[in-house]
Amino acid sequence: MQDKDSTAVKDLAARKLSRRTVIKGAAALGIGATAASPLLRAGGAAAAAGKLEVFSWWTSGGEAAALNALFDAYKKAMPSVEIVNATVAGGGGNNAQAVLQSRLSAKNPPDSWQTHIGHELYDQYVTPGYCDPITDLYTSEGWNKVVPQGLIDQVTKDGNQYAIPVGVHRGNGLWYNKKVLAAAGVTIGETMSMDDFMKAADALKAKGVAALGLGDKDPFVAPQTFENTLLGAVGPDGYMALFKGAMKWDDAKVKAAMTSFAKMLDYINSDHAALTWDGAVGALIDGKVAFNSMGDWAYGEFVKKNVVDNIGWVSHPGSQGSFVLVVDCFTLPKGAPDADNAKAWLKVLGSKEAQEAFNPLKGSIPARTDIDKAKFDKYHNWSIASFAKDKLVPSVAHGEAATPGFKTALYDAATAFVTDKDVAAFSKALVAAAGA
Ligand code: GAL
Repeated sequence: MQDKDSTAVKDLAARKLSRRTVIKGAAALGIGATAASPLLRAGGAAAAAGKLEVFSWWTSGGEAAALNALFDAYKKAMPSVEIVNATVAGGGGNNAQAVLQSRLSAKNPPDSWQTHIGHELYDQYVTPGYCDPITDLYTSEGWNKVVPQGLIDQVTKDGNQYAIPVGVHRGNGLWYNKKVLAAAGVTIGETMSMDDFMKAADALKAKGVAALGLGDKDPFVAPQTFENTLLGAVGPDGYMALFKGAMKWDDAKVKAAMTSFAKMLDYINSDHAALTWDGAVGALIDGKVAFNSMGDWAYGEFVKKNVVDNIGWVSHPGSQGSFVLVVDCFTLPKGAPDADNAKAWLKVLGSKEAQEAFNPLKGSIPARTDIDKAKFDKYHNWSIASFAKDKLVPSVAHGEAATPGFKTALYDAATAFVTDKDVAAFSKALVAAAGA
């Protein structure tokens, strides 16, 4: 397996090499942009042809549609560039990140890849030296003026910016099927406490409906459901205290959150381990389950399937007043095979037009604050308001709040917990991971 993998990586590297040779050869023959061409003068694209390989894990219906909107925007700016859509399936990106890591260590980067702000960007990519700064683009494109400073800070290291956020997901949504709740006589207000959830879940159980749709075939789903439950239990200040080491992972409040998570797991669908996150969203749409706790990429699925009106939402029980940030951004690799095309890609991603086209389909809100809110529907405007007034906290399940090592330990511990519901073992594992 190991051998086969490294051969595949070498093959890819070899193909990249020959491709570069061909393009350089074309330039020598005078094909493509010349020094006097307007594209070059605009600082746009020395290689206004060639390829652009974009690496992501956006393969679900809503994700793919949104990614295509970005490609469409790019094609307008760079019509002669061939886009290579390099996706590795697997919600939350665990599979994709593993493949990317082996490509990066083999010095075979794509032209740009998807990542999250905070630890993931720094620890996995910037610190090991895989990224070039894009500080000049922040200046030339005016991003410093339109992207909130708090987000810019999370892509900045030693004064340089390393990624452009394309959308801001709210990670702590609880989505519900309106018809299923109505049939069970359950009514929902603007917010939901954990007690409210348990009451609703009991009413649904009495009708033979699994209250909480879980799709934990994707390994991010259990840890994400736990992080939202934790946030609801300890509040945003407690949540931040955990990552600063000011609260311990065996604190009574953390254990209470674990107990609540275990209770929620009493109401999940029996096929949860066979479903991906979007499979569970599909079960919600089909009325097979009543609720789904998920970041608002779920909303992208509702848009894609044209069922927005059948679905309602509140914050994950107890987490109202907080906004869990899951911020998707893209990088400029050191040694990008098509660096000019990659820079043009990042410029497109940071543009008002692309962010207004992408985010309505993706479920996220634009990172830019100068967008036209009328282009966004009710949910997005609700999320925009939440972003403006609520406490913003980074996601640990999506790599932002803690080191990759801690994230891995959380994934393992939360996955085990779905089966064993062992609070002592769960908190012990997290205490150990935080100490490491
Ligand atoms: C997150 C990512 C989202 C969405 C989700 C499910 O990590 O930020 O854009 O793709 O995974 O795949």
